[in-house]
Amino acid sequence: MKRHRIVVIGCGSRGMGMARNLTRDPSRAEIVAAAEVRDDRRPRAQQELGLPAERMFSGHEELLDKCNDIDAALIATQPFSHSEIARACMEKGLALFLEKPMADTIEGAKTIADTASRLGTQVHVGFNLRYAPFYEKLHELVTSGALGKIMTINWTEAPSCRMYMNGYCRNPSYNRKSVIGSWLLEKSCHDIDQFNWLVGERCVRVSSFGGRRFFVPRDDVPEHCTDGCPISDECMYFSHKQEARGGLHPEESDLCVYRCGSDLVDRQTTLFEYPDGTVVTFNLIPVDGGRFMHIAGSEATLSGRDATGEISVRSMRTGIETIYRPQAPRSGHGGADQRTTNAFLDYLDDPAKLPMTTVPEGLEAVIMCCGADLALEEHRVVELDTLR
Ligand SMILES: NC(=O)c1ccc[n+]([C@@H]2O[C@H](COP(=O)([O-])OP(=O)(O)OC[C@H]3O[C@@H](n4cnc5c(N)ncnc54)[C@H](O)[C@@H]3O)[C@@H](O)[C@H]2O)c1
Repeated sequence: MKRHRIVVIGCGSRGMGMARNLTRDPSRAEIVAAAEVRDDRRPRAQQELGLPAERMFSGHEELLDKCNDIDAALIATQPFSHSEIARACMEKGLALFLEKPMADTIEGAKTIADTASRLGTQVHVGFNLRYAPFYEKLHELVTSGALGKIMTINWTEAPSCRMYMNGYCRNPSYNRKSVIGSWLLEKSCHDIDQFNWLVGERCVRVSSFGGRRFFVPRDDVPEHCTDGCPISDECMYFSHKQEARGGLHPEESDLCVYRCGSDLVDRQTTLFEYPDGTVVTFNLIPVDGGRFMHIAGSEATLSGRDATGEISVRSMRTGIETIYRPQAPRSGHGGADQRTTNAFLDYLDDPAKLPMTTVPEGLEAVIMCCGADLALEEHRVVELDTLR
């Protein structure tokens, strides 16, 4: 098999982590160049990727201009740049591992889809949940018919409060709709892709409610926690009580979560209706719960929680409850990251080996998230065909 020559665009935690996974078996792939716009990240990335100075670039344009001996690009930049970078890489003839969400707008995602179709580009979109043993088991149970006819799916994604504070309130690269599209799109396009995978049809319509109602500006606290904040004792979001995320600059890491200028929702509940009548209720809230779900079928109900790795199925016919605990490694989203990158390499080896998530799955998730955000903003039900 060919040893694939891959470049990394965006050397944040995701880009570096996925680069490690791609080269775990050095006979399959090597990282031959990288681009990173942040001066403070380039030296470490260059060292960790083992690149000579002339192969470490400060932006994707320069990299694409100077490198001609490459097969594929791993794109792990912020969502607002995915469309432009993906298009430039495809025009250069590269296959893509494109991190989720495919783009921050429907227009951007459609540009990627059109370019990929015109050029015949291989694109793997990073919905790694489909490669996690827990979700694989969930999918197997639902699609095997063990639950009977699926009626409703109730699903919650409750990321940790620390992730919300540091990742989405304090971090200027992720705390505004203008850079990520929306919190639902950035964080939960994974979950929306799961619903499509489970139901196996295209969603028809969506409504959504929520907003930013708790983390709103207050004038009794300073802009930075360490500027003598009067509520520091009782505030559980006070910066020193939250372990800072690596990507934050020092001046961002103690920003007050009420005054950080974020315009993202702090709660959102969305309803999706599918043609077969399945109704999905999805909650996104930052309250330390991980992902948990309840799926009601005509024969049995399923309850699952990814934090415990346990799925239980209770038959209504017999009353018997069966517990499943799919074995998953602790690393890289329960082993999903390594399996996702392996699937990408298999795809590069053989274009007939399609990964589970390519352009149609990526585009559909963007349409559904943007549809939900439109429904929330305009207080109406959005027919998704009007956005397709
Ligand atoms: N699939 C998953 O489980 C998963 C997990 C985490 C993040 N992600 C996704 O991966 C992407 C990156 O996430 P992250 O947490 O590493 O973000 P990050 O902001 O820490 O890293 C992105 C990096 O890209 C760099 N960059 C931006 N534009 C560039 C350009 N034109 N050329 C070169 N470098 C550029 C930025 O300077 C930054 O260092 C996002 O789309 C995110 O949603 C996916």
